[in-house]
Amino acid sequence: MWQLVEKGLLELDVNGERKTVIARPADTLLHVLRTQLGLTGAKPGCENGDCGACTIIMDGWPVKSCLILAADAVGHKIQTIEGLHDSPAQSAFLEQWGFQCGYCTSGFLMVCHALAKIHPRATPEVRIDWLQSNICRCTSYEEIDAAIRSILHEIEEEPAERP
Ligand code: FES
Ligand code: FES
Repeated sequence: MWQLVEKGLLELDVNGERKTVIARPADTLLHVLRTQLGLTGAKPGCENGDCGACTIIMDGWPVKSCLILAADAVGHKIQTIEGLHDSPAQSAFLEQWGFQCGYCTSGFLMVCHALAKIHPRATPEVRIDWLQSNICRCTSYEEIDAAIRSILHEIEEEPAERP
Protein backbone atom coordinates (compact mmCIF):
# COMPACT_ATOMS: atom_id res chain seq x y z
CA MET A 1 0.00 0.00 0.00
CA TRP A 2 1.40 3.41 -1.00
CA GLN A 3 1.41 5.80 1.88
CA LEU A 4 2.13 9.28 3.08
CA VAL A 5 5.82 8.92 3.92
CA GLU A 6 6.38 12.25 5.62
CA LYS A 7 5.07 15.76 5.38
CA GLY A 8 5.20 16.89 1.77
CA LEU A 9 6.65 13.65 0.48
CA LEU A 10 4.10 11.41 -1.21
CA GLU A 11 4.31 8.05 -2.85
CA LEU A 12 1.88 7.62 -5.71
CA ASP A 13 0.98 4.63 -7.86
CA VAL A 14 1.00 6.06 -11.36
CA ASN A 15 0.65 3.90 -14.46
CA GLY A 16 1.73 0.88 -12.47
CA GLU A 17 4.89 2.47 -11.13
CA ARG A 18 5.71 3.81 -7.68
CA LYS A 19 6.51 7.50 -7.89
CA THR A 20 7.73 9.80 -5.13
CA VAL A 21 6.73 13.44 -5.34
CA ILE A 22 6.91 16.44 -3.07
CA ALA A 23 3.62 18.23 -2.74
CA ARG A 24 2.22 21.11 -0.77
CA PRO A 25 -1.11 20.43 0.92
CA ALA A 26 -2.99 22.44 -1.68
CA ASP A 27 -1.27 20.97 -4.74
CA THR A 28 -3.67 19.21 -7.05
CA LEU A 29 -2.98 15.85 -8.58
CA LEU A 30 -3.08 17.53 -11.99
CA HIS A 31 -0.32 19.93 -10.96
CA VAL A 32 1.89 17.20 -9.55
CA LEU A 33 1.43 14.89 -12.53
CA ARG A 34 2.43 17.63 -14.93
CA THR A 35 5.17 19.45 -13.06
CA GLN A 36 6.87 16.66 -11.16
CA LEU A 37 6.26 13.55 -13.19
CA GLY A 38 6.28 15.11 -16.64
CA LEU A 39 2.91 13.55 -17.46
CA THR A 40 1.43 16.39 -19.46
CA GLY A 41 -1.34 14.46 -21.19
CA ALA A 42 -3.85 15.65 -18.60
CA LYS A 43 -4.43 19.29 -19.43
CA PRO A 44 -5.29 22.28 -17.24
CA GLY A 45 -8.37 23.79 -18.84
CA CYS A 46 -10.94 25.36 -16.56
CA GLU A 47 -9.32 23.95 -13.42
CA ASN A 48 -12.65 23.93 -11.68
CA GLY A 49 -14.16 20.64 -12.79
CA ASP A 50 -16.14 21.74 -15.81
CA CYS A 51 -14.19 20.89 -18.97
CA GLY A 52 -12.76 17.41 -18.43
CA ALA A 53 -9.41 18.20 -20.10
CA CYS A 54 -7.62 17.01 -16.96
CA THR A 55 -9.40 13.64 -16.79
CA ILE A 56 -7.39 10.69 -15.55
CA ILE A 57 -8.50 7.30 -14.23
CA MET A 58 -8.35 6.53 -10.54
CA ASP A 59 -9.11 3.00 -9.38
CA GLY A 60 -10.82 2.40 -12.70
CA TRP A 61 -13.05 5.47 -12.68
CA PRO A 62 -12.55 8.67 -14.65
CA VAL A 63 -11.92 11.63 -12.40
CA LYS A 64 -10.96 15.24 -12.90
CA SER A 65 -7.45 15.60 -11.57
CA CYS A 66 -7.85 19.35 -11.08
CA LEU A 67 -10.32 18.58 -8.29
CA ILE A 68 -8.18 16.05 -6.43
CA LEU A 69 -5.45 16.96 -4.01
CA ALA A 70 -2.25 15.05 -4.63
CA ALA A 71 -2.27 13.93 -1.01
CA ASP A 72 -5.69 12.39 -1.50
CA ALA A 73 -4.37 10.27 -4.37
CA VAL A 74 -2.10 8.31 -2.04
CA GLY A 75 -3.22 4.69 -1.90
CA HIS A 76 -5.09 4.84 -5.20
CA LYS A 77 -4.17 3.50 -8.61
CA ILE A 78 -3.68 6.38 -11.01
CA GLN A 79 -3.73 5.92 -14.76
CA THR A 80 -2.97 8.75 -17.16
CA ILE A 81 -3.12 8.88 -20.94
CA GLU A 82 0.57 8.02 -20.96
CA GLY A 83 -0.28 4.69 -19.35
CA LEU A 84 -2.95 3.78 -21.89
CA HIS A 85 -1.60 1.28 -24.40
CA ASP A 86 -3.47 -0.53 -27.13
CA SER A 87 -6.90 0.14 -25.66
CA PRO A 88 -9.95 -0.40 -27.89
CA ALA A 89 -10.85 3.26 -27.30
CA GLN A 90 -7.61 4.44 -28.90
CA SER A 91 -8.15 2.26 -31.97
CA ALA A 92 -11.76 3.38 -32.22
CA PHE A 93 -10.77 7.04 -32.07
CA LEU A 94 -8.35 6.46 -34.93
CA GLU A 95 -10.86 4.55 -37.02
CA GLN A 96 -13.74 6.98 -36.41
CA TRP A 97 -11.66 10.18 -36.65
CA GLY A 98 -12.38 10.92 -33.00
CA PHE A 99 -9.04 12.60 -32.36
CA GLN A 100 -9.54 16.32 -32.05
CA CYS A 101 -7.14 18.84 -30.58
CA GLY A 102 -4.38 17.91 -28.19
CA TYR A 103 -6.15 19.70 -25.40
CA CYS A 104 -9.42 17.83 -25.18
CA THR A 105 -8.59 14.47 -26.74
CA SER A 106 -6.76 12.85 -23.85
CA GLY A 107 -9.63 13.58 -21.48
CA PHE A 108 -12.21 12.20 -23.91
CA LEU A 109 -10.09 9.10 -24.43
CA MET A 110 -9.82 8.43 -20.72
CA VAL A 111 -13.57 8.75 -20.26
CA CYS A 112 -14.31 6.47 -23.20
CA HIS A 113 -11.77 3.89 -22.05
CA ALA A 114 -13.30 3.81 -18.58
CA LEU A 115 -16.85 3.70 -19.92
CA ALA A 116 -16.07 0.68 -22.09
CA LYS A 117 -14.58 -1.09 -19.09
CA ILE A 118 -17.28 -0.22 -16.56
CA HIS A 119 -20.36 -0.23 -18.81
CA PRO A 120 -19.55 -2.36 -21.86
CA ARG A 121 -23.30 -2.65 -22.49
CA ALA A 122 -24.19 0.91 -21.64
CA THR A 123 -27.51 2.26 -22.81
CA PRO A 124 -27.43 5.33 -25.07
CA GLU A 125 -28.53 7.36 -22.06
CA VAL A 126 -25.56 6.20 -20.02
CA ARG A 127 -23.19 6.81 -22.91
CA ILE A 128 -24.44 10.33 -23.45
CA ASP A 129 -24.41 11.06 -19.75
CA TRP A 130 -20.77 10.01 -19.45
CA LEU A 131 -19.66 12.05 -22.44
CA GLN A 132 -21.21 15.15 -20.95
CA SER A 133 -18.36 15.25 -18.47
CA ASN A 134 -16.04 16.54 -21.19
CA ILE A 135 -16.32 19.65 -23.29
CA CYS A 136 -14.99 20.67 -26.68
CA ARG A 137 -15.55 24.32 -27.51
CA CYS A 138 -14.73 24.17 -31.18
CA THR A 139 -16.22 21.26 -33.05
CA SER A 140 -18.76 18.48 -32.83
CA TYR A 141 -18.91 15.34 -30.75
CA GLU A 142 -20.09 13.13 -33.58
CA GLU A 143 -16.83 11.32 -34.24
CA ILE A 144 -16.10 10.81 -30.56
CA ASP A 145 -19.59 9.45 -30.06
CA ALA A 146 -19.17 7.15 -33.06
CA ALA A 147 -15.89 5.89 -31.63
CA ILE A 148 -17.33 4.97 -28.28
CA ARG A 149 -20.42 3.44 -29.85
CA SER A 150 -18.22 1.22 -31.98
CA ILE A 151 -16.71 -0.48 -28.92
CA LEU A 152 -19.84 -0.68 -26.77
CA HIS A 153 -22.46 -3.37 -27.01
CA GLU A 154 -25.39 -1.15 -26.26
CA ILE A 155 -28.55 -2.65 -24.91
CA GLU A 156 -30.73 -0.52 -27.13
CA GLU A 157 -29.58 0.64 -30.50
CA GLU A 158 -30.99 4.10 -30.85
CA PRO A 159 -29.83 6.90 -33.11
CA ALA A 160 -26.93 8.73 -31.51
CA GLU A 161 -27.80 11.99 -29.86
CA ARG A 162 -25.37 14.76 -29.32
CA PRO A 163 -23.81 14.43 -25.88
S1 FES B 1 -9.21 21.38 -15.94
FE1 FES B 1 -10.16 19.90 -14.71
S2 FES B 1 -12.22 19.89 -15.37
FE2 FES B 1 -11.32 21.50 -16.52
S1 FES C 1 -11.32 21.59 -27.40
FE1 FES C 1 -10.23 20.12 -28.52
S2 FES C 1 -11.09 20.16 -30.51
FE2 FES C 1 -12.29 21.51 -29.30
